[in-house]
Amino acid sequence: MRLLVTGGAGFIGSNFVRWMLQDHADVELVNFDALTYAGNLENLAGLEDDPRYTFVKGDVTDRACVEAVFARHAIETVVHFAAESHVDRSLHFGSLVFVQTNVVGTQTLLEAARAHAVKRFVQVSTDEVYGSLGSQGRFTETSPIQPNNPYAASKAGADFLVRAAHQSYGLDAVITRCSNNFGPYQFPEKLIPLMVANALEDKPLPVYGDGMHVRDWIYVLDHCRAIDVVVRKGTAGELYNIGGTHDVPNLDVVRGILRILDKPESLIRFVKDRPGHDRRYAMDAGKIRAELGWQPAGSFEDALEATVRWYVENREWWERIRTGAYREYYQKLYGNR
Ligand code: NAD
Ligand code: DAU
Repeated sequence: MRLLVTGGAGFIGSNFVRWMLQDHADVELVNFDALTYAGNLENLAGLEDDPRYTFVKGDVTDRACVEAVFARHAIETVVHFAAESHVDRSLHFGSLVFVQTNVVGTQTLLEAARAHAVKRFVQVSTDEVYGSLGSQGRFTETSPIQPNNPYAASKAGADFLVRAAHQSYGLDAVITRCSNNFGPYQFPEKLIPLMVANALEDKPLPVYGDGMHVRDWIYVLDHCRAIDVVVRKGTAGELYNIGGTHDVPNLDVVRGILRILDKPESLIRFVKDRPGHDRRYAMDAGKIRAELGWQPAGSFEDALEATVRWYVENREWWERIRTGAYREYYQKLYGNR
C-alpha cells in the first residue's frame, strides 16, 4: 500500500508513521509536512534511511506542490493529519491560518485525491466538532455538529468538505473523530506535556478556570491503531468516533502527573479560563468497537505513567522546543493570566 501521510512530523502523525512502518511490511509511506512550529523531524529520527519512507516538505494549501506529490509517488491512500491543532492559538494568535490550513488545505488535498483516483481518503478529525456535553451522555456519530472555537469550527468545515467529496463525486472517504490524545512527541503547549515540563522545572502549573473541565483521554498509539483499522476495514462514507473512555476532570490529570513525579500540589495555579471553554467531552466509541473490532490496548494509568517517564527521559527533546520562539508564545498566553 502506498500511503500519503500529511502532517507526519507532528505529534500523532509521527507516532502513526512509526506504527505503520513497524507493523506493516507492505506499506510504503510518503510523509508530506510543511514543518510549521509543530512539525519536528526529530520525532522521526532513525527513519531517514528506511527505503519505504520518503519525506516531502510541502504545504497542503499549495496546489502545485500537492499535485506533484500525488503524481510522483502514485499515492493509493491518504491519511490526512496536517492541521493547525491548538485551540488556544486559534483563540489568541489569529485564526485565519486555521481556516487556511484546515479548510483550504483539506479541499486542496481532496481535489488532488479525486484527480488521481486514490482508493481511500481518511480525514483525521476531532471530538471538538461536536461542541460541549452537559453532565450526562456521550458523543455519538449522529450528535449535532456544534463547534465552539475557531479550531473546532475549521475542523468541522473540513469534515463537511470530505463528506461532500464522497456524496458528490463518490470519493472513497472516511472520517475519524478522536478525543484528547497523549503520549510521546506531543508539543509542550498541550495540557499533559506542558504540565510535566513545568513540574520538572518546578514552575507553576496553569489550570484554566476551576479545573473541572472533562476530557476523554486516549493513548496516542491506541488512536494510531484505530486509524490503521479504518484505513484497512472502514466503510466508505462512514464516520467513526474514537475515544479512550477515560473522561476525567483536568485537575485529576494534573494531580496524577504530580503524583508520578513526586511533586507538590502547591505547584498548581488556577488561572483565567479559556474563552468559550467546552465543559465536557466524552466519546461513544461503540461503533468502531463493534464494526471494526478496535479497542484501546491498556489502561489510562499505565499509559500516563509511561508518557510521563518518556518526558523525563527525553528532556532534551522538549527543552529544545521550550527555548526561542516558544518562550514568546508562553509569555504572551500566560503572562497576564
Ligand atoms: P500537531 O500540531 O502536533 O501536528 C500538526 C502537523 O501538521 C505538524 O507536523 C505541522 O508541521 C503540520 N502542518 C501544519 N500545517 C501544515 C500545512 N499547511 N501543510 C502541511 N503540513 C502542515 O497536531 P496533532 O496533535 O498531531 O494532530 C494531528 C491531527 O489530529 C490534526 O488534524 C488534529 O486536528 C487531529 N486530532 C488531534 C487530537 C489531539 O488530541 N492532539 C485529537 C483528535 C484529532
Ligand atoms: O479533543 C480533541 C482535541 O484535543 C484536539 O482536537 C486538539 O487538536 C487538541 O489540541 C486537544 O484540544 P484541547 O483544547 O482539549 O487540548 P489542550 O491540551 O489544549 O487542553 C486540554 C484541557 O486542559 C482543556 O480543557 C484546557 C485545559 N488546559 C490546557 C492548557 C494548555 C489547562 O487547564 N491549562 C493549560 O495550560
